[in-house]
Amino acid sequence: MTHLLRIDDNELYQIVNPGNYEELKKYESVDIYTKDDNNEPILIKVATEDFNKEYPLISSDNTLMNLFIRLKDRISLIRREQNQLNVDLKKSLKIDMPKAKTILTSLVDVTLSEPRTELLNEIKETIDLMLREYLSNPEVIKHLVQVSIHDYSTSLHLANCMLFCFGYAHYSKYSKKDMKDLGLAALLHDIGKLEIPDYLLQASRKLTPDEFKIIKRHTTAGYSLIESSDFSKAVKLATIEHHERLDGTGYPNGRQYLHETSKVIGIIDVFEALTHWRPYKDEMNPLEALKFIKEKEVDLGRFDEKIFKSFAQSLVGMKLAPNAGVAQ
Ligand SMILES: [Fe+2]
Repeated sequence: MTHLLRIDDNELYQIVNPGNYEELKKYESVDIYTKDDNNEPILIKVATEDFNKEYPLISSDNTLMNLFIRLKDRISLIRREQNQLNVDLKKSLKIDMPKAKTILTSLVDVTLSEPRTELLNEIKETIDLMLREYLSNPEVIKHLVQVSIHDYSTSLHLANCMLFCFGYAHYSKYSKKDMKDLGLAALLHDIGKLEIPDYLLQASRKLTPDEFKIIKRHTTAGYSLIESSDFSKAVKLATIEHHERLDGTGYPNGRQYLHETSKVIGIIDVFEALTHWRPYKDEMNPLEALKFIKEKEVDLGRFDEKIFKSFAQSLVGMKLAPNAGVAQ
């Protein structure tokens, strides 16, 4: 959950309804501004001063003052939070899986709150950490996937997809470098959902055709967000190709020749969605989900059959679907 909101001038960021001094502690180390009637920023606390009740948070009209911080401060605060979460993640992976899962999801959440290259790059640290942990103890994925959080967020979906991708990549004997790349593509493939209104992403009803059109834009929006970054071609293409299908029935472009990574993420994306709770549907067990994907996608030539079989086998390896062979 982010407490910051992007504003138009791209220089100052609003702290949304901090509510109380306790919450403001997060911003203690940075300059805080408010704006006057002409929309000009006024510095009300300098970074070196403590935040205490001396600082007026209530305007003369008795409403909570709008508070802002600078972009560079926002980036450094997020980076600090990412680093701390990585430290916490490393610790809890040894002792407390539910906590590790929550931290992993928060890490993705915090990173996606400001998808700038420098912050997206920080998440490579998380990939390294998870990969090291996975290679030393593959059981960790099984435990993390099995921690079910009865909630739905894009961040949780992305974290789950990354876990499945590690299992698939390991089973398929990917190099360590390619494993990292696939994990990163999984974490970032839905990054364009940041541009889609929450009420559509969280809707617990069937979307209208017009609403679905808006949702589909997350593919092109995601690609635009990371197009000029130094991520690999595989990571970039996964954003725009993960809803494409090999028979041309996918979106946004009806592309049939897809990057290998996009083909993998496409399958894992659907599998994750089917096997996890959503506001509008119950979850399927892994075997049901594999059968469903085989009938509705693989048999119709929409998904790559070889990748699908390897993925099903990788679930056996992760002890997530002991009878996955039945679905093939
Ligand atoms: Fe997507």
